[in-house]
Amino acid sequence: MAGRPARAATRNAGHGVQRCINVVCAATYGLGERIYLCPRCGETLEIVCRLAAPTDREAMRKQWTSRRARRAWSVDPRESSGVWRYLEMLPFEDDAPFVTLSEGNTPLFEAPRSAGYCGLARLRLKHQGYNPTGSFKDTGMAAAMTQAVISGARTALCASTGNTAASLAAYAARAGLEAAILLPRGQVSASKLAQSLDYGALVLEIDGNFDACMRLVKELGDDPSIYIANSINPFRIEGQKTVAFELIEQCQWRVPDHIVVPGGNMGNSTALGKGFQELLDLGMIDRLPKLSVIQAEGAAPLARLFANLNFTGPAGDEQIPEKLEPVENPRTLATAIRIGAPVSWKKALRAVLHSGGQIISVSEQELADAKAMIGRDGIGSEPASATTVAGIKKLVASGHIVGNDDVVAILTGHALKDPDYMIRYHEGTLSFAAGGKQDLESRPIAGAFRNAPERAAATKAAILSSLERRR
Ligand code: F0G
Repeated sequence: MAGRPARAATRNAGHGVQRCINVVCAATYGLGERIYLCPRCGETLEIVCRLAAPTDREAMRKQWTSRRARRAWSVDPRESSGVWRYLEMLPFEDDAPFVTLSEGNTPLFEAPRSAGYCGLARLRLKHQGYNPTGSFKDTGMAAAMTQAVISGARTALCASTGNTAASLAAYAARAGLEAAILLPRGQVSASKLAQSLDYGALVLEIDGNFDACMRLVKELGDDPSIYIANSINPFRIEGQKTVAFELIEQCQWRVPDHIVVPGGNMGNSTALGKGFQELLDLGMIDRLPKLSVIQAEGAAPLARLFANLNFTGPAGDEQIPEKLEPVENPRTLATAIRIGAPVSWKKALRAVLHSGGQIISVSEQELADAKAMIGRDGIGSEPASATTVAGIKKLVASGHIVGNDDVVAILTGHALKDPDYMIRYHEGTLSFAAGGKQDLESRPIAGAFRNAPERAAATKAAILSSLERRR
């Protein structure tokens, strides 16, 4: 996949460079070079934007707020989109061919029941499932498809557990590009598959897991007609980092103590870390929130690595190991994060270490109950997102988060992304086979907050008596 980079006439040349994250290599490339891994050493790349520190920070804050206020009626993407509103933080020119579906602009909810469940006085949930295709992927996809158009690509390609696929299919359609999607056959929720079909993508179901699909994508990256839209593409991260800007505005520029995100391929955690770091570098905030990442126990290569890291004193890049031991056969009912070899693990680990956060895993039972609790707040999410609330509960129990801390969890997908999981939890038929030699049998997941449908006779009395039983 390394090889000779495709060059394109670029409309973002003055805005920064792509740089290899390997500090020993640190090679830089133009923004117009269509590469995903460093051609010199094979490591992942990141975009270093040339950001000018605002002379008047208050004026910059006010400008973002006033664009946001105008968003409902505006047809200008720099006002209507929660990505393009932050154009001065992004590696694109003012006249770029912005691809948009009015992404971002997602709510920050108070979640009192989930807070109590975790042992916190207050918990807020930033719900990225309110994006146009129902997941956080849309902010990154707006940037990646814009860059695909700039670079003259024909087909956008991704491997996916379902949400990247749905998002790519929609944004490629908006951009007038072909979309091709590699899905692990039989491991993607019906809702996500349906979306990709509806948006007209070529959907290829592969016999293998997500990691196998990702390996194929890397092999296909040197085909000049193909543009890779996985989060290995640094432009995806640029779009996704805007969630940090929108969130800090919603927090009225008071930096939360902790931000907690689910971890799969590690693009989201990388992006949040980058967004907050850039705000700090520009003097827009005075400290970083602690960024913590939560994985599902059966798909937790980075949590395992983190538990074995032995660092003393301030954590720097030198503490990042060379290799991550992948999980060969990752398992979790949260299919979105069934990933054993995350591509952006180094960037994510660096962001977590710089901020002083944690990386831990949660069991299927903890995840399922946390998901139901998010539902009880009237909010709901897809299973992968609920790792956050389950993880926060554990971090409170271990003392890494204290009861009065200001905590924000990032919910990544809408509840309707996986209705089958919800029905099975509430009906009491959810079960999980952890794998391994001794544990091939499916074990039931007991729904602590089970809410099965009741059969009721078609009479007023029967309905009143059902209500009475609930009271
Ligand atoms: N939550 C949801 C709902 C996801 O779909 C994903 C990843 C994650 C969390 C993990 O985020 O990969 O940035 O660490 N889904 C990818 C996909 C892999 O193909 O849709 P990450």
